[in-house]
Amino acid sequence: PAPGWTDSVDFVVIGSGIAGLTAALRLRSAGSVLVVTKDVIASGSTQWAQGGIAAALGPGDTPEDHLQDTLVAGAGLCDVEAVRALVTEGPAAVRELIDLGARFDESAAGVLSLTREGGHHRNRIAHAGGDATGAEIERALVDAVTRADDIRIIEHALVLDLLTAADGAVAGVTLHVMGEGQLDGVGAIRCRAVVLASGGMGQIYAATTNPSVSTGDGMALALRAGAKIRDLEFVQFHPTVLWLGKSAKGQQPLVSEAVRGEGAVLVDHEGKRFMQGQHELADLAPRDVVAKAIMRQMLASGKDHMLLDARHFGDEKWRVRFPTILASCRSHGIDPVRELIPVAPACHYSSGGVWTDLQGRTSVPGLYACGEVACTGVHGANRLASNSLLEGLVFARRIAVLLAQDLPEFREPIEDDRVAGLVDADVVPELQRVMTIGAGVIRSAPGLAEAAGAVAKLIEQTPGEPGTPAWEATNLVTVGSALIAAAHAREESRGSHWREDHPDRDDSAWLGGLDITLAGQND
Ligand code: SIN
Repeated sequence: PAPGWTDSVDFVVIGSGIAGLTAALRLRSAGSVLVVTKDVIASGSTQWAQGGIAAALGPGDTPEDHLQDTLVAGAGLCDVEAVRALVTEGPAAVRELIDLGARFDESAAGVLSLTREGGHHRNRIAHAGGDATGAEIERALVDAVTRADDIRIIEHALVLDLLTAADGAVAGVTLHVMGEGQLDGVGAIRCRAVVLASGGMGQIYAATTNPSVSTGDGMALALRAGAKIRDLEFVQFHPTVLWLGKSAKGQQPLVSEAVRGEGAVLVDHEGKRFMQGQHELADLAPRDVVAKAIMRQMLASGKDHMLLDARHFGDEKWRVRFPTILASCRSHGIDPVRELIPVAPACHYSSGGVWTDLQGRTSVPGLYACGEVACTGVHGANRLASNSLLEGLVFARRIAVLLAQDLPEFREPIEDDRVAGLVDADVVPELQRVMTIGAGVIRSAPGLAEAAGAVAKLIEQTPGEPGTPAWEATNLVTVGSALIAAAHAREESRGSHWREDHPDRDDSAWLGGLDITLAGQND
């Protein structure tokens, strides 16, 4: 739709989680900043993060050890230099977060408490409020951003597309503001640079740990703008999501890996442990190994969930260390102090996304990306637990440093003659069903082909009326089609991508990232 109003600012930051707010705070020194967020500022995935933030902060730990664990989890696809940046800049980035006001858990002697999660050989996960790490980080960042009167915030606004100049570089964005106030409806904002920090796309699947706002908007916008998208097939399914029955849909409660980090174990319905002998780290193996082991147990037994035993923690430890998880289990009628917790894998994190270089530059000049929407190369085929908050911090800082040194020019936008082609919001439940069956934890060529056909049919159905539900649905089907194409193209199993018809990892053909375009063809 044609913009009804225009405005201008140096930098537009899309998204208000750890990556977006860190970018906003740091970009202030280089120019004027506007944060655009789809809901209220604190919504989004960061506030839901439980386990914590990984960094080599403990005695005897080193960035090199953190690098090794990250590379092993990433199953041969990490960009080693990106991981090096993450692990070496990580400890200082976490200390700065503490200086900003984030209160992490400490021992009685005032030493930072560090726990362990899957794939880590050391205790290096800093946490806050027991299991409410993301909420505390988001609180501290939101406080800082709302105190900064040189950062403008527009809530309840969905960024629709990039405005580009004749040479293809970014000239601004179009957005739909859904609120009252001076700005309403569709408008255009001219800017020097756009920082995409809009998070993931978990709502593409029927069950996910992601909040309802995670509809792949940033990835879809980047696909439409012709940006390089990489590793989209590597969707991480968190192994232990509270199982709420067959018909549970949408955002599901997470049972943090830190619960296993503190000694909980997975058992089958006969009470037998099944992770021993599968990996040297047993219940603390990397996430893809645990998720696959649970799925195999479920398939072999015909059950739709497995069980997590943390009864031995006792009441006191549950209350102090995992208050959020305790409350969410109890609110669903499960008392983890006395009962086994039913768990099953659910969509959790997109390891791939909009390709960036080490400074957060995408392939579209003037478009930068950080956080879950980005593919910086640090996660490879499977993100190491608690590396995502750290990635958001480190790469947002890197973008701000770059933009302060090298300020892009304002550019004249050319007219956007693309036809909107919106799909109806009613297609979303069917999309989620199709993606879960055909492009979920277990994939195969026939299943993916069927999913591709079903999504193509959804796109052809009655067009949607302009508005947020139809724009979100369009973004979901756009990302879904690209994901299916990527998963179809990668004929091997690696990290979180499991092809039943190609069950082995194949380093001779697939030791590289796979780029995907809007047409769904891989380059
Ligand atoms: C968790 O607490 O298990 C989630 C950590 C993560 O996704 O990195």
